[in-house]
Amino acid sequence: MQKIRVGIVGCGEVTQIMHLHSLYQLADRFEVTALCDASATVVETVGEDWNIAKRFTDERDLIDQDDVDAVLVASPNHYHAQTTIRACDAGKHVLVEKPMCMNLREADEVIAARNRADVTVQVAYMRRYAPAFVEACQIVRDMSDIRLARVHDVIGQNALIIAKTSRVVRGKDIPAAVMDAGKAREAALFAEAIGDAPAGLRLAYGILLGLASHDISAMRELLGMPNGVLYAAYRHGGLYITSAMDYGDFVCHVEIGVDSIPRYDTFLQVYGSHRIVRVQYNAPYVRNLPTPLRITEVGEGGRIGESEVNPSWGDNFTLEWEAFYDNVTQKKTPKTSPEDFQQDLELFRDMVALMR
Ligand SMILES: NC(=O)c1ccc[n+]([C@@H]2O[C@H](COP(=O)([O-])OP(=O)(O)OC[C@H]3O[C@@H](n4cnc5c(N)ncnc54)[C@H](O)[C@@H]3O)[C@@H](O)[C@H]2O)c1
Repeated sequence: MQKIRVGIVGCGEVTQIMHLHSLYQLADRFEVTALCDASATVVETVGEDWNIAKRFTDERDLIDQDDVDAVLVASPNHYHAQTTIRACDAGKHVLVEKPMCMNLREADEVIAARNRADVTVQVAYMRRYAPAFVEACQIVRDMSDIRLARVHDVIGQNALIIAKTSRVVRGKDIPAAVMDAGKAREAALFAEAIGDAPAGLRLAYGILLGLASHDISAMRELLGMPNGVLYAAYRHGGLYITSAMDYGDFVCHVEIGVDSIPRYDTFLQVYGSHRIVRVQYNAPYVRNLPTPLRITEVGEGGRIGESEVNPSWGDNFTLEWEAFYDNVTQKKTPKTSPEDFQQDLELFRDMVALMR
């Protein structure tokens, strides 16, 4: 089996808690050869912990390495497109954390770079690689009587769970000029996406990109692209978002929120006239928690059956890396492609217009 040599840009929370463990588990398919983080403390400590010799604070040095075949982009959101494009231009494959980018212009540029280089670019929507979700999609595809759907994602702040379950190395040594340039870049990309917006709408757009992108993208795979957005609103300074998606025969309600209760209340649920299908997600930062599939249905004589199955063990982050390996080595288009992500941005644009 040919190994893919991975360079990681951004060695913070998600890299330390999830990606490095998944890549270690898949050591027959991947080898991490280089790390980059804007913080020297982070890159040196993570490099020592995981015995990875090549360590950089400028991503261009990592991308230049001959022993890097693919790049994981796990830096802050406002750098994702730039890093992905640079990696593509150097002929590297890319697994880019969600959101792939901040606005539609950047999405076009990522797609153009991917096409120029003829490499694989996969968006790291790990929830969509959960076997329970894949099975739910098959079941829902055969349902001709959908009456209603719900996408629900109300969670406690990540920090409340991570503080109890993980050790994360953070760095306070990023040069002030780099921090200032990052803030300016982020502000410019937000402005390009949503124009001159009140603080609440800006936070709501951040929540759409950061959290709701998981839910909206899974909704699209489960139910298809909606005909349109019926309404969208934000409350509590942008921390809570509700919306309704028009699917013609039925409506899908979307409910997103972040509170201070350390738990995940995250599911997609589809109501047919005789059957209810639900995929329940658990805290993503506690590795290998199952993603169960729940089915409620009425059988002969009105019997009500309820089942909950965990189709497989295995972390969703590891499953997305397995898919990435197959996509790169077999030259297959990822289902979470840049074009797929573009559809999320189109829905966010329509939601923001209604929120305004
Ligand atoms: N798939 C998921 O469920 C999931 C979960 C968490 C985070 N994420 C995504 O992963 C990304 C990182 O999130 P995180 O929680 O690990 O954040 P984090 O702040 O903990 O880590 C980001 C790291 O990037 C470094 N960094 C900043 N600027 C950089 C640059 N220009 N080049 C290289 N490194 C740079 C920081 O020093 C930090 O160590 C975000 O885009 C986030 O949306 C995805």
